[in-house]
Amino acid sequence: MSDRYDTRETIADLERRLEKSEKVNRALKDRVKRSVRSMDNSYALFENNILLQAAVEEKTAALEIAKNEAESSSRAKSAFLANMSHELRTPLHSILAYAQFGLRDAAPEPEEIRDYFEYIHSGGTILLELLNDLLDLAKFESGKMVFETIDTVVDEIIEATVAEFDSQAAIHHATVVCDSRLGDLTVSLDPMKFQQLLRNLISNALKFSPENGKVRVDSRLDDEMVVIEVIDDGVGVPEDELETIFDKFIQSSKTRSGAGGTGLGLAICREIVTALEGDIQAANRPEGGAVFTVRFPVRVETSVPV
Ligand SMILES: Nc1ncnc2c1ncn2[C@@H]1O[C@H](COP(=O)(O)OP(=O)(O)OP(=O)(O)O)[C@@H](O)[C@H]1O
Ligand SMILES: [Mg+2]
Repeated sequence: MSDRYDTRETIADLERRLEKSEKVNRALKDRVKRSVRSMDNSYALFENNILLQAAVEEKTAALEIAKNEAESSSRAKSAFLANMSHELRTPLHSILAYAQFGLRDAAPEPEEIRDYFEYIHSGGTILLELLNDLLDLAKFESGKMVFETIDTVVDEIIEATVAEFDSQAAIHHATVVCDSRLGDLTVSLDPMKFQQLLRNLISNALKFSPENGKVRVDSRLDDEMVVIEVIDDGVGVPEDELETIFDKFIQSSKTRSGAGGTGLGLAICREIVTALEGDIQAANRPEGGAVFTVRFPVRVETSVPV
């Protein structure tokens, strides 16, 4: 009896253990399945990563090629512009010189002959200015612009440049004055380029102002920065075009059909100011008219990207 009882106990015990071990077995199988699934997922992820990486590398290489091509065509364009402007300037100089001889030597009669020489001379001068601007921009863009930097009294240049515009302003019954407050502050810069910057801004201010317009050039020192403002009471610039007018060949929608020129002056100004490690911005005045503000540090480390 006791033997049979023991055997039944043992069988029951064995059955329980078997059941338990089957449970453990199932759990283990589940875990293995899950691991395999997660390994599958990881592998798929890994595979995806490799594919993505390859796609990114392919795109990067394609972008690199496109960038190199764009850079080389931009260099070719700048070189073409520089060569073309240079080649065109030489014959243009002779045309201008002969127009001047004509003006000097032509007989007073008939009067038309003098007019013809006058037209040739004024048209040629405009063309020469355009070629000079194109040549300058091509040099800036190719990094070949040479800066002849010397210690310069900034206000002296401002006052001399403002004085240059006296007669042009008088023709339009306009005035150009300056309020220079830098004293004898000296900055190491290229005075010719600095003057080119001022001339562009002042001539714009006059060009886009009505008769009797008032243009003012202010200069001051603000926290180790030279600040120059060219202020006018002209047509101003539409708010959403205050940035784009600095792009090449761009004119504001307010002046496009009016007195504007080629649209290169401000692009050149921005290049000159960048070489001075500064910035230039346009804004509208609440009372009407525009103000162009140039800022650059008193100590320009290097303005010579030769
Ligand atoms: N003081 C200003 N007032 C109003 N608009 C201005 C002023 N200065 C510039 N602009 C606008 O910005 C445009 C670009 O000026 P930018 O000097 O580059 O070209 P431009 O004077 O038309 O031609 P360029 O200077 O090549 O002879 C001008 O055509 C004009 O629309
Ligand atoms: Mg201009």
